[in-house]
Amino acid sequence: MAALWRPLLLSALLAACELRCAAAFRICAFNAHHFGDSKSKDGVVMKSLVKIVTRCDVILLQEVRDSKQKALPKLLSQINRESREQYDYVASERLGRSEAYQEQYAFFYRTGSVSVTGKYQFPDDRPGDRDAFAREPFVVRFRAPKTEIQEFVLIPQHTSPTNATKEMDALYDVLQDVRKMWKTENIMLLGDFNADCGYLAKKNRKKVRLITDPDLKWLLPEDTDTTVRASTSCAYDRIVVNGRKLSDAVVPSSARAFNFQEEFRLTEDEALDVSDHYPVEVLLRSGAVSLSCSLLLVLLVFLS
Ligand SMILES: *[C@@H]1O[C@H](CO)[C@@H](O)[C@H](O)[C@H]1NC(C)=O
Repeated sequence: MAALWRPLLLSALLAACELRCAAAFRICAFNAHHFGDSKSKDGVVMKSLVKIVTRCDVILLQEVRDSKQKALPKLLSQINRESREQYDYVASERLGRSEAYQEQYAFFYRTGSVSVTGKYQFPDDRPGDRDAFAREPFVVRFRAPKTEIQEFVLIPQHTSPTNATKEMDALYDVLQDVRKMWKTENIMLLGDFNADCGYLAKKNRKKVRLITDPDLKWLLPEDTDTTVRASTSCAYDRIVVNGRKLSDAVVPSSARAFNFQEEFRLTEDEALDVSDHYPVEVLLRSGAVSLSCSLLLVLLVFLS
């Protein structure tokens, strides 16, 4: 009898395990080009946005231009209506040098797998470098019990193109402040840094501490194209990881741009209605799951 059910049970367990092993934790960053009132009223665009957000456990949206403060709640309620899993979001205040042009950072996250354990808006006049950014970082600490790393901090940044080099260098100081403030090394910096083509000259890279510090890993391959237009190929959007521990918790070679035009079978114009950028993303290893998989394999060998 035992000889009969044992292989069946084991293969069922193994199948369940493989299913769970495949479910790694995805972090994304997306410049949602001028996301506000008019986009939130476009059903076709919203459909794509819902699909983009719900692929990710956490996604940073940038260029949120929602002066009426209705577009983000609308996106959230549409996500929660259409998706099996529930989401929530935290957003920064409206940021910008002029009243006429303001943007918000917003982090959408899957409430079943991640929660917010801290947030901090960097002020305009940080000691050391007054008014370095057009949009000061809104840093958020997340707890994700299913990941190997458990807790991590995200530093978002959408640089202004003309000051991209200076702003990227100033992000290095922000990183040092966050390390001290929350006593952690598990920090990821992400967003549209404008870190390529005309906005970051090759000769200036050696002046950017965010690039030269060997403890920081720039995850996306240099030849990544994060722009929708076929006529451009630039790696503007980036994911940078601080410290050995977080870098080891990343699934190797998983960082990439998500070409939603191809995936959703859109024309270039239809894709541009959503954004002129692709989202970028990276996978984190799932912790307890890989452990239970290893245990199961040991059990399998032991029993057979
Ligand atoms: C670039 O930086 C300078 C100096 O901090 C600032 O005065 C200017 O407004 C910035 N430009 C933009 C587009 O943010």
